[in-house]
Amino acid sequence: MAPQEPLRLVIVTGGAGYIGSHVVYTLLETRRYRVVSLDNYGNSFPEALVRVSQLAREALPKDATEQDIESTKIEAVSCDLTREDQVRAVFERYGHGAFWGVIHVAALKSVGESSSRPLDYYHTNVGATVSLLKLMEEYGTHRFVYSSSATVYGIPPVIPIPETTPLKAESVYGRTKVMCENILMDLAASNPEQWRLISLRYFNPAGAHPSGRIGEDPRGRPGNLLPLLSQMSVGRLPEGKTLQVFGNDYPTHDGTCVRDYIHVMDLASGHVLALEALASQTDTRAFRAYNLGKGRGQSVLDMVAAMRKASGCEYETVIVGRRLGDVPDLTADPALAEKELGFKAPRELDEMCRDLWNWQSKNPQGYETPEAVATKEE
Ligand code: WQD
Repeated sequence: MAPQEPLRLVIVTGGAGYIGSHVVYTLLETRRYRVVSLDNYGNSFPEALVRVSQLAREALPKDATEQDIESTKIEAVSCDLTREDQVRAVFERYGHGAFWGVIHVAALKSVGESSSRPLDYYHTNVGATVSLLKLMEEYGTHRFVYSSSATVYGIPPVIPIPETTPLKAESVYGRTKVMCENILMDLAASNPEQWRLISLRYFNPAGAHPSGRIGEDPRGRPGNLLPLLSQMSVGRLPEGKTLQVFGNDYPTHDGTCVRDYIHVMDLASGHVLALEALASQTDTRAFRAYNLGKGRGQSVLDMVAAMRKASGCEYETVIVGRRLGDVPDLTADPALAEKELGFKAPRELDEMCRDLWNWQSKNPQGYETPEAVATKEE
């Protein structure tokens, strides 16, 4: 048997979050990486990484090597990315050149909140990214995958949206993502020989790992459509089963906003492909950006129907006014990611809703078990 390649040590920031935990799982599944997660658990739970590691261990083949077993262990560091000293301590501990790459997922992500707390958003999303890149430079790590968002397109002039669309965000949150992409472009131009940077523009992630053991568990009341619908199904929300639909006078097939929902496992696979692309000897571009979407649009009412089918919940809908900052249609053109990364998002809407419901019904209180909740309330 050919000797195994040594494991590549990678940092995943925000590794315990919804997207981060699925990215870490997908990396572990390849048995080619060793993951160090940096997370402040501001909107996530350490338990997620415990479960990711268990799932990866269970997925190992019978003839797994010592190294394979090693690859399922995660170093979970509790760390605030806005604190340079804390992140530096991680780089220092492993030493110069130790990290093969960084996947930077951690960020504040509420569009509404970003307009009332702009400095927190710029500090966390932009300041911490610059600080992380500076440490990478100092410690000799130059491969970087960045979590961007479809929101960088603002109100897109063409649907489906190609990556060549000018970036023009409509919210503070969106502007933090545009700024970081601009920073990455400038960094790439400053030293194209050295840096390998990929920005992944996420459309709307949905679903969960099929085991139902990891999934989306926002702290506080969810602001996004799918966690709202799934928490309604388990009776976790005070408003019962009534969804407020933000506007039905958009120029779409039923008047409600259209989004491109992508299974979080497919989204996660895009990160592994991006890392592989950064290692390519033939493609020497220092910066690239890719849409990660399915290329298909679903309206709010389509999603309500799909979740009703998956969970059996009889939602009620009430039409209210438009939500500030919403755009009628965000549907990706995913052709570039497919062509250059080999990216595909095969999981369909039914599977997204089924996996979301599987997670929510098995974990009605998310990662906080009833026992944990009871202890906290005492
Ligand atoms: C989807 C649709 C709402 C709640 C945002 C960010 C984006 C990304 C994901 C990442 C919209 C409608 C929602 C409700 C509703 N962020 N809706 N009633 O706005 O597409 O994307 O989250 O970190 O960057 O912009 O997602 O799930 O909030 O909304 O009618 O109670 O559901 O108007 O059309 P969105 P969403």
